Amino acid sequence: MNLDISGKVALIAGGTGGLGKPITLSFLNAGAKVAVTYIRDDEIAALRNEAGDRAALLSTHAVNVTDDGSVRSAVETLVAKHGRIDILVNTVGGYAGGLKLWETDPQVLSQMLDLNLRSGYVLARNVVPVMLKQKSGAIVNIAARAAFDHAAGASAYAASKAAAVAMMDCLGEDLKGTGVRVNSVLPSIIDTPANRRAMPGADFGKWPKPEEIARVILFLCSDAARLIHGASVPVYGND
Ligand SMILES: NC(=O)c1ccc[n+]([C@@H]2O[C@H](COP(=O)([O-])OP(=O)(O)OC[C@H]3O[C@@H](n4cnc5c(N)ncnc54)[C@H](OP(=O)(O)O)[C@@H]3O)[C@@H](O)[C@H]2O)c1
Repeated sequence: MNLDISGKVALIAGGTGGLGKPITLSFLNAGAKVAVTYIRDDEIAALRNEAGDRAALLSTHAVNVTDDGSVRSAVETLVAKHGRIDILVNTVGGYAGGLKLWETDPQVLSQMLDLNLRSGYVLARNVVPVMLKQKSGAIVNIAARAAFDHAAGASAYAASKAAAVAMMDCLGEDLKGTGVRVNSVLPSIIDTPANRRAMPGADFGKWPKPEEIARVILFLCSDAARLIHGASVPVYGND
């Protein structure tokens, strides 16, 4: 299958993170020009180092993607440089849980909605107009299995991820007939360094590798997936 995205311009929000970094590297290896947003700059050197020669195709932007004005100016910078944005992947998100709803501070709900819902909203509302002008584009928003599997102790997190899926479903309807595709991807626990640190006793071998999920996202963003629009794709095997 041809997953060549060479020459395409990809914006990967959170492209330095546990899942974001493997996505960035796989997109660079597939020949895309990749712009990543980040908050903590200590991860940038490692990313450039791992990208090797492909780092020439990489640009990095310190942007709070929950802030509309900051994202608007980052998008303007990208369009001024490349003339287009072909791919948007939003990996910005966060988890808070372990407490029952009535024990959870309202601040946690605000934080989950900002990271897991508002990020995708702000990114999409700034990037979609660029894609509409091109009459083409592919968007992938990372939600979570928790969007559909609603467990105890996860009310704020699950609600924010369920809302993110609903928002992308609506965006998919808004985009019908435009040539711009949008899909959600639903991971469960991923084998990231942060999860290994948080759950040292777990069987890491059972967790999907971020590189495996990055391959699915690369496929969804490639022309090979031109028939896939408005889907919520589970990426946690059959456990
Ligand atoms: N890891 C899992 O097991 C798992 C399971 C299910 C779903 N997911 C979802 O998968 C996605 C990626 O998870 P992950 O484990 O890769 O998370 P991560 O390692 O925490 O990465 C998140 C990335 O988002 C960036 N970020 C956070 N807040 C931001 C903001 N306001 N503006 C711009 N960037 C911001 C972070 O930048 P800095 O590092 O610079 O702060 C980081 O690069 C998230 O949506 C998460 O909810 C993950």
